[in-house]
Amino acid sequence: MLNFKEIIANTIEKTINIDTKELESYIEIPKDTQNGDYAFPCFRLAKELKKAPQQIANEIKEKMEIDNNIIEKVEIVGGYLNFYIQKQKIIKEVLEEIAKKEEYGRTQIGEGKNVVIDYSSPNIAKPFHIGHLRSTVIGGALYNIYQYLGYHTIGINHLGDYGTQFGKLIEGYKLWGEEYEIEKDPIHELTKIYIRINQACKEDEKVLERCRENFKKLEKGDEYCIQIWEKFKTLSLQEFQKVYDLLGSHFDSWNGEAFYSDKMAEVIEILEKTGKIIESQGARIINLEEQGIDTPCIIEKSNGSTTYATRDLAAILYRARTYDYDKSIYLTSYEQVLHFKQVFEVAKLLGLDEKYVQGLKHISFGMVLLPTGKMSTREGNIIKLEDLLNESIQRAGEIIEEKNPTLENKEEVAKKVGIGAIIFNDLANSRIKDEIFDWDQILNFQGETGPYIQYTYVRTKSVLEKVGKVPKIETINKQKLEDSYSQNIIKIMYAFEDTLQQVTKKEEPSILARYLIDLAKAYSVFYNENKIITEDKELQDARIYLTYGVGKVLKIGAGLLGIQMPDKM
Ligand code: ARG
Repeated sequence: MLNFKEIIANTIEKTINIDTKELESYIEIPKDTQNGDYAFPCFRLAKELKKAPQQIANEIKEKMEIDNNIIEKVEIVGGYLNFYIQKQKIIKEVLEEIAKKEEYGRTQIGEGKNVVIDYSSPNIAKPFHIGHLRSTVIGGALYNIYQYLGYHTIGINHLGDYGTQFGKLIEGYKLWGEEYEIEKDPIHELTKIYIRINQACKEDEKVLERCRENFKKLEKGDEYCIQIWEKFKTLSLQEFQKVYDLLGSHFDSWNGEAFYSDKMAEVIEILEKTGKIIESQGARIINLEEQGIDTPCIIEKSNGSTTYATRDLAAILYRARTYDYDKSIYLTSYEQVLHFKQVFEVAKLLGLDEKYVQGLKHISFGMVLLPTGKMSTREGNIIKLEDLLNESIQRAGEIIEEKNPTLENKEEVAKKVGIGAIIFNDLANSRIKDEIFDWDQILNFQGETGPYIQYTYVRTKSVLEKVGKVPKIETINKQKLEDSYSQNIIKIMYAFEDTLQQVTKKEEPSILARYLIDLAKAYSVFYNENKIITEDKELQDARIYLTYGVGKVLKIGAGLLGIQMPDKM
């Protein structure tokens, strides 16, 4: 598709001596369509050119040679140059792209670039909590979008399957394993054992000693310890998989923390050579005060065990070598901001290529709050994720039953709607915001929700079904789409590709979620104001074609977020 921003930047560039890319980055899309399709704020250049914005605007406009096939007119308003694109030009671009490409908006701009995405990453033998759900959903959306833009993506589930807590679990299992129904409800039962053994450790130093001993044995490859640990892992993964199946999650690698057990020695060796490791209360640490981080990074605990941070350092080394990444993204809640600050700082000492250090990005997100407060495991306020997802499906089913009792495949639709609602809710607001979990809001078919987008899609489907066939693009009279409601849709559709790029620039899938709401709303207005089935056959065909386009973009966009569309609901 023609890139109007670039065309405008090129046109301006010929009048002043500033790089197109820079100019392009200044161009805005005005909130009010009265101010044109694109606006160039001249005050951005005022300092550099030592002139008043208004004067700059006048001079550019005077010298500029615009292509009238593309740009209808240019106006100056308060230091802005407002550009109006020829309506027919945008319509043509969008409709032809819809006709031409099954995968509207797909590009290859990421070709040759590798992006590692570390997401979901729950802990073995512990509940898969709602924070992991957010990581899974946001990470999954980023994974899909990067891939759609041509990047080579590697999705990693960095399982928390290592650390001293396994020494404890092994001990608890040895002592009381038979009392618990681990096979039946593994995570629930293992959590109980974990709480009990922790209590025992507090009461008796000797028990704690044995737990530490177990973990050391595990690290050294003791057969019995490994066997139990593997059992925990297999059972936990079976549970997690139920959630992944419901969400449709996919990972290319399941290398968790344990995978790095034999790769940490090298990290420690490299760090030792830098001379930055110091002893402190028996532990080995790296001070980061000079880097503005008050808490040191612990490389080895006083009992000689490695840490979460050391394993992340080993993972960085491994991922740089294995995937030659350009970007390596980590998705966790903001509770781990300090951890990643420390790890990324220490990573500078590993002697890696600058590119690999630069590419590290912790993408944090807010908490999920119940209307009654934070969802937490410690307060016993545990919500099993699988139950949460199933409840959403069930509630969606009830709504469907009420609205459309004769619908076929009700169960399948309820699943798409229930899961879609949860996913959308996780993505609807900018990720750093805490999110309030409220059933009525999440499943409101008329709100800014997943079901609303699905509902709008279904509406486009039923319009198409009514007329039977989508007309051929060559037969469409594009003059029929110049009314403001159609124009609104066309412009949003045109912005799809750019929207996807914005998502990757800011690692912010909510930009796409908001976009889909805007498109769905624009279609709802169009649908209510414009009669689609009319006497005027040309008008009808044009509107049908637009409807077809909207359905396509909604489906692709929602799919990238991980939301499936029902055909009816
Ligand atoms: N397992 C960790 C947790 O549940 C998240 C891991 C994130 N990824 C990483 N490479 N540290 O908090």
